[in-house]
Amino acid sequence: MADQAQKDAVRHPWFARFYARCSVRAEPAMGPVRRELLTGLSGRVLEVGAGNGLNFAYYPPTVSEVVAIEPERELRALAVEAARRADVPVDVAPGAAEALPVKSEAFDAVVLCIVLCSVRDVDRSLAEVRRVLRPGGQVRFFEHGLAPGRGMRRVQGALDRTVWPRLFGGCHVGRDAVAALRRAGFETDGHRDLLLPERGPRMPTSYCVLGTARRPRDDGAAPLAPEG
Ligand SMILES: C[S@@+](CC[C@H](N)C(=O)[O-])C[C@H]1O[C@@H](n2cnc3c(N)ncnc32)[C@H](O)[C@@H]1O
Repeated sequence: MADQAQKDAVRHPWFARFYARCSVRAEPAMGPVRRELLTGLSGRVLEVGAGNGLNFAYYPPTVSEVVAIEPERELRALAVEAARRADVPVDVAPGAAEALPVKSEAFDAVVLCIVLCSVRDVDRSLAEVRRVLRPGGQVRFFEHGLAPGRGMRRVQGALDRTVWPRLFGGCHVGRDAVAALRRAGFETDGHRDLLLPERGPRMPTSYCVLGTARRPRDDGAAPLAPEG
């Protein structure tokens, strides 16, 4: 029973079915972003909130193993299928970002792809990411988030306080991934802002950031996640 509760830490069956369909339709735009996100990675990689596993096809052969954590049962089942088709070994497991079921300092890189928008506790999740990365290890991130303009920020805030998280599996449109990574003690190695879709009307989810951050090399003891 406790095991089942752990496996279902996140349960969004409607969103899971919606995301499984619309993420595949978005691949012509998202595929190149996923490729850029993962280019140059090597060694052991942890992917947090892997969804239906669309990133798996883009891991380069220099990656020796991917451990992919996905809390939502239906998305996890799709990720298991995607793992079978992947060119690198991918092990899909249940779990949540706020309490990653892996050892400290066990990974060379952690991948966060449209997931900080959805976790319940961003600071706790990033403290966990820092714990499981080796000192000097990288975070590769692609997230949608806070718009630059005040008008759209107001819209994002209103959506986040009302319907958006309920409709879209806990997603928030107005989070700031780069600020959260810095707050969690990561050194940001560079990032770029991009709009998705590139053309056409701007949506609350259009404001994206793609980049790399790093656990400091001299970050001795594995930090503990804040109480929550
Ligand atoms: C927008 S989807 C992105 C999926 C995938 N990363 C991708 O690139 O297509 C957000 C994902 O975060 C997962 N998620 C939600 N809450 C989470 C949590 N607390 N810990 C880890 N993953 C979570 C969802 O189940 C979903 O798979």
